This record gives sequence, structure tokens and C-alpha cells, in this order.
Amino acid sequence: MTNNLEISHRQMRLAETISRQLVNALIRRKLTPAFSDFFITHLAGLTPLIAVLDTAKLGDHSAYVSADLLHQLSTDLGGLPVYLSNHSGIRYVILLSPLPKLPRKVDLPLDIPRGKLAVGVRFSGQPVLLEWETLLHLAVLGATGSGKSIFLQSLVTQAIRDEMKILLSDIDQTTFGMLESHPNLAAPIASTPQEALGLIEQAIAECDRRAELFRQVPERPQKLSEYNALMVKQGKEPLPRMLVVLDEASSVLTALGGAKGAMGQALATLGWRGRKFGIHFVFAAQEFTKDILGPVRDQVGLTLCFRVGNAQMAERMGCNRAERIPENRPGLAISNRHGPIQTYFVESSALGQGQKLLPSLNDFERTLFARSQRETNGRLSIPILVGWGQRERAARQMLETWELRGWVLRDPQRDNARYITAKLVEIMSNRQAGQAPSNPAR
Ligand SMILES: Nc1ncnc2c1ncn2[C@@H]1O[C@H](COP(=O)(O)OP(=O)(O)O)[C@@H](O)[C@H]1O
Ligand SMILES: [Mg+2]
Repeated sequence: MTNNLEISHRQMRLAETISRQLVNALIRRKLTPAFSDFFITHLAGLTPLIAVLDTAKLGDHSAYVSADLLHQLSTDLGGLPVYLSNHSGIRYVILLSPLPKLPRKVDLPLDIPRGKLAVGVRFSGQPVLLEWETLLHLAVLGATGSGKSIFLQSLVTQAIRDEMKILLSDIDQTTFGMLESHPNLAAPIASTPQEALGLIEQAIAECDRRAELFRQVPERPQKLSEYNALMVKQGKEPLPRMLVVLDEASSVLTALGGAKGAMGQALATLGWRGRKFGIHFVFAAQEFTKDILGPVRDQVGLTLCFRVGNAQMAERMGCNRAERIPENRPGLAISNRHGPIQTYFVESSALGQGQKLLPSLNDFERTLFARSQRETNGRLSIPILVGWGQRERAARQMLETWELRGWVLRDPQRDNARYITAKLVEIMSNRQAGQAPSNPAR
């Protein structure tokens, strides 16, 4: 164990005990305790023990990072939370010092990388950034006033920025009113359980449509990113991801016969079918009975519990201790994978403006595109970008990303080179009208 930091004897002893317990805990679950290192570090005012697994010595990694295992490890360690590090490979993080206080309010940053989903900040001060493809679906639990609706709004804000199609159910009509007739909506906002069921059925129909499109591709793509990469190579439009948001999901489910009723079944179907086709759902509720959570629990990559009244309910979601969140901390949540997170705040009034809220292209990109319009007739290639001072690797990555966004497209008429699309020209010209400043005054 490395120790060149100021670490108390008590923490050293604790770390040694935990290391032994971790090894035993893995063995007991027939997993390989292939730890290559244990070390104590200081991180943003905290003193965690980091346990590094040698991934080369493990078989299937998924058993080592599952929320269930983290939960079990934590139980074995007498309730000390066990988190995964953001680092590559597999590292368990166990805090030896008490949790610091998270900030009470953090605005959704404007500069989140596209395609990422920013949830909030964790105890280390780092943002939690996720990808839809690995995240799949989300379950959100919390009492009234705990921050669910604001969180859903921040998700939808980001989905709109990433040009996702959205389907919304808002029985209360308090969460998404400002989005009525937003161009990214694939259907009107549902305000009854029946209409909500209609949305899920529409999403399943979209899975069918996409299954047919996938079937026509000889390479047999297994996920949306693979399909889209093939499409853009052929100069075709990529398929947007789709996000289905159900607020007050428990009442909707209960109204339609519970987990075994029409809605429960439809959600379970969408759960397993949607993952391949980039169709994701988020369901939020004030309570989940065991019966209701059961069938969807396995489909969900992330659970997030805001303040809840009931410890058992929090535990069922894999969010131990969410019942301890005080009433005066809306937006503070426990996630099954990341522990405590202060989720990002968004101003509801900004949401209706959707795309305008977040910059679509940065200054650097804008400069390159303007130059291309002036000098190369909108043509963009690796040699052109390299000629303008970019490294080859960066140039390739930029072009691929822009292609996925539909900003450049190969033109078979002009030796299959990439050209700026009409869509990009429109985004560039919208800029003055709607873009938020990149450094908002606080
Ligand atoms: N992430 C957050 N950061 C700071 N304050 C928040 C946050 N989320 C919610 N709040 C505060 O709590 C209030 C209730 O939040 P809301 O999302 O409407 O709760 P719920 O939908 O769970 O009933 C909001 O009006 C806001 O003042
Ligand atoms: Mg609400």
C-alpha cells in the first residue's frame, strides 16, 4: 500500500481491513480478486481507498461493475459506500473520510460535450457524464418537491441539444408545459394514462421500423452507433436517438393494471427492444412498489433517488440512504452507481427555447466552417484540415463527429468528398438569434 500522503493511523488500519474484506467479498461471490493495487489518495478534500482490479485477469467484466455487486460490497463493508471510479479499467472507491457537503445548486453547464448526458456533480467535484448507449434506461424516484421535474427538464434540455426525438408524458401538466409543440416532439405531450400508453406503443412501433432498416444493412449492426456510422459512410442520414420521459409513472402504471397490465408489459418490451435501436426511457415516480419496479428494474442502467420517505424503497432501487436526504436539499440524489450527486439545475423558462439554450457549435468549429465556405466551397477533408494546422488524428475525429451530427455529408457527385450540409448552414445562421453566451453571467 502506497502511503506518501498524510494519512492517519486510523485510516491506514481501516484501509487494510477494507482491502482484506474486499478480497473475501469477491471470493465469496465466485469472482476473481485480481487486485493489482490498493492505495489511499486525497481527492477533492476526501480520502478514499482505491482498489484497482487487473482487468486482464478477469473474464466478463460486467459482474465486477454491476450495481448489485457494489451494493453487496457495501453491505459487506458494514455500509460504507463503494463507488466505481471514472478512471478506465475497474477501480473501486471506498471513502475513509466522511462525505463532504455537495453544493446546493449547480447550473447545467453550457459546454457539455455533445452526445453526453450530464447528470450532476459528485462528491469529488467531478461531473457525472454518461452516454445513452451504455445508460439505456433510467428510473427516478423522489418525494414531491425533491427535484424530479427539474432533473427531467435537464435531461430533455440535453436531448434537444443532441437532436434527439422526444416523447413526453406529463399527467400533472407541471413539468413539460413549456415544450408544447416543440419541433423535437414526436407526438403531443401525453396527459392521461391512455395517452402515455400510446407513447410507449409509438416508441415500440419505432423499434419495429428501425429493426426493418437495420435488416437492410448487410453488416448487421448491433446498436445505433454502428448503424449510424455505416449510414454516414454511405452519405445517408443517421437515425436520431429517441427519449421517452414518463413523469408520475407509478400512477400511470397503476391506472393501467400495474406491472402485468398493458403499460407494464409495454414498458418491459420497450426496455429490451429499445436498447438496440437507440430508444431510451426515463420513468419518474414518488414511489415504486416492488410489484411495479420488478419487471423494469433489469432494464434500467441507472437509478437515481432524490429524497424518499421510505428506506426500503431506496434500498430496492439500489440507492441506500436516500431516505436521509433532508427536505431542504432538492436536487440532491443518490445514484446506484455513483453515490451522492447534486443534480444540475435548469431554469424551466429556458427549456422551451431548447436548442437555443446550448451552443450547437463552438467558436473553433464556426471558424473552420466559415473558412471552408470561403476557401473550399464547403468541402472538408483530412488534408484540408491538416493544411489549416490540425493534427491528422484530430481532423479525422472532427470529420467523423460532424458526419454523425449531419453537419457534413459525402457527395457522390463530387468524388465522394465531404461537404457542409444545408442543416449546418442553417445552424450557423441561427446563431445570433438564439445562442446563449458561452460564459453566462452568474
Ligand atoms: N437540481 C436542483 N438544484 C437546486 N434546486 C432544485 C433542484 N431541483 C429542484 N430544486 C428546487 O426544488 C423545487 C421542486 O423541484 P421539482 O423538480 O419540481 O420537484 P418534484 O418534481 O420532485 O416535485 C424546485 O422548484 C426548485 O426550487
Ligand atoms: Mg414534479
